Amino acid sequence: MKEIQIKLFKNGNRIKPFLKWAGGKSQLINEIVKRLPDKIKRSKYIKKYIEPFVGGGALFFHLKSYYSIEKAVLIDINRELIICYKVIQKEPNQLMTKLQKLEKLFLSKSFAEREEIYYDTRALYNVRMNDFDYENYNFEWIDRASQTIFFNKTCFNGLFRQNKKGEFNVPMGSYKNPTICQTENLFAVSNALENVEIICGDFTEAEKYITKESVVYYDPPYRPLNNTSSFKDYSKDGFNDKDQIRLANFYTKMHKKGACQILSNSDPKNANLDDDFFDELYKEFKIDRVLANRMINCNGNLRGKIKEIIITNY
Ligand SMILES: C[S@@+](CC[C@H](N)C(=O)[O-])C[C@H]1O[C@@H](n2cnc3c(N)ncnc32)[C@H](O)[C@@H]1O
Repeated sequence: MKEIQIKLFKNGNRIKPFLKWAGGKSQLINEIVKRLPDKIKRSKYIKKYIEPFVGGGALFFHLKSYYSIEKAVLIDINRELIICYKVIQKEPNQLMTKLQKLEKLFLSKSFAEREEIYYDTRALYNVRMNDFDYENYNFEWIDRASQTIFFNKTCFNGLFRQNKKGEFNVPMGSYKNPTICQTENLFAVSNALENVEIICGDFTEAEKYITKESVVYYDPPYRPLNNTSSFKDYSKDGFNDKDQIRLANFYTKMHKKGACQILSNSDPKNANLDDDFFDELYKEFKIDRVLANRMINCNGNLRGKIKEIIITNY
């Protein structure tokens, strides 16, 4: 058995996502971990971990805290997010220097001055999007990543959201003393990203990496629970029912490769008991319904804890 490498901080904290991300899976981690194959839970060893919709990576960072993962592949279609992952992986020190400077400047200012810094940075960030080189890693990526993290730590609700054009449009939040540079965690994250392949693209990019030795966790944008729900509004690229079907076909194809797969999504039955969308799509697999701490406010009938589905193929 491989030596178990448990990367906990000195004070026993685990590695946490470096960004708060829409649809972050912190609430569901225990339910997902419970469902890992027994062999993995016993050995605390995963040969190849693949996450095609990584977002903030709540499950990945949790697993990196307690399991030994030999190789990992993390994919997301959001290019600003992937820039952050790559910069933290390659140049954590430079990134932290920039974040520390930003933090020092921001915290020394009055609310009105903070607003000026925030909105000027946001305007420039959105203009730069048009001629930014998202393809080739270069020194400008460090600035870009520091700004994305800065917004995430200081914006309203702490969620990085973009409009249809891809512009970041969240107003400033009113946190008194936001920690913009979470030094200890950023080092731990950088460490956790060693030997990790980070890819910007569609989830199907995962295909060439998936083998029978892989554990794959899919956390796609939620299927909205009703027409007005905007829960799938993570990035400028929506994820509609056609994409959910495309994903189910991919899941079935990768099942045939022998990969061990876990997928989570919202349960459409929260809104309509007769909605069998996922039950039909994943009928060959095991579908569990679990309670999640997610509140839905836009429809009075849906307040309180709601169910999520977890689909496994083993
Ligand atoms: C529910 S979130 C994942 C949240 C993540 N589990 C966490 O803990 O933060 C879904 C993610 O899928 C990404 N996404 C949307 N469409 C995609 C696609 N076609 N391929 C890959 N990723 C996609 C979004 O950018 C978003 O980060």
